[in-house]
Amino acid sequence: MATPQPGLWKRHEIFEKNSIVLLIGALLVVAIGGLVEIAPLFYLKGTVEKVEGVRPYTPLELAGRNIYIREGCYLCHSQMVRPMRDEIERYGHFSLAAESMYDHPFQWGSKRTGPDLARVGGKYSDQWHREHLIDPRAVVPASIMPAYAFLDRPLDADAIADDLRANRTLGVPYTDEMIASAKRDLKAQRDPEGPGSADLQRRYPGATVRDFGGDKTRATEIDALVAYLQVLGTMVDFKIYENQKNLR
Ligand code: HEC
Repeated sequence: MATPQPGLWKRHEIFEKNSIVLLIGALLVVAIGGLVEIAPLFYLKGTVEKVEGVRPYTPLELAGRNIYIREGCYLCHSQMVRPMRDEIERYGHFSLAAESMYDHPFQWGSKRTGPDLARVGGKYSDQWHREHLIDPRAVVPASIMPAYAFLDRPLDADAIADDLRANRTLGVPYTDEMIASAKRDLKAQRDPEGPGSADLQRRYPGATVRDFGGDKTRATEIDALVAYLQVLGTMVDFKIYENQKNLR
């Protein structure tokens, strides 16, 4: 072992022999480290890189998300594909931070009694989801998922505009127009022939307008939940995303 240089030791002696000086010295060093790491965060516009395609949820999808949270689906399902080979092979492209940037609260979860749902959108038909929610054993005989048949009841979405407004206070870019037309949009998304569907798609590019397997005359909680499940993980087109990443 190299012998310490006598000069350096002498200068350090004052710290080692005097606890108050050591304390002040330690605080100073930690403060500098803190400044270097924390101060820049206040000057960044955001820490999440925006990705093309990610948009705020439509009112119907948001209503479905509320039911997902209310029923505690997150207790058995995560919504984050981790960047590991087994997960990517099973679920698809790993989750991007931007894909949950409008989720308040996020649904990454920490428990997987059932599969991850981050990319479940488009994996099954609307009808499959309905049957599965009403009676999981009807489509997956060995399933231990509880039945949610009671969700086949009218959707109470009177407060949906307030919901959008609350999300806006958290940074989701809902416009005044989106908030004012929230109730209309919620209806329009289930009615492809209706007058509001073009407006809805202008406000929420890429939103699908269809009846989600339900009865067009009456919106149920299942309709909203299926609309939400079907959009999960579908906003980013990964062919475009990978191309743009390679160009950068
Ligand atoms: C007690 C745990 C539990 C709860 C709570 C639960 N699930 Fe599940 N879920 C499972 C299990 C286990 C599976 C796998 C078997 C199956 O497909 O039914 C599953 C499967 C699924 C699938 C199919 C996923 C795939 O990729 O095949 C969907 C969609 C789903 N659940 C949605 C929900 C929703 C929505 C809720 C809340 C209303 C919910 N689950 C609540 C346990 C649960």
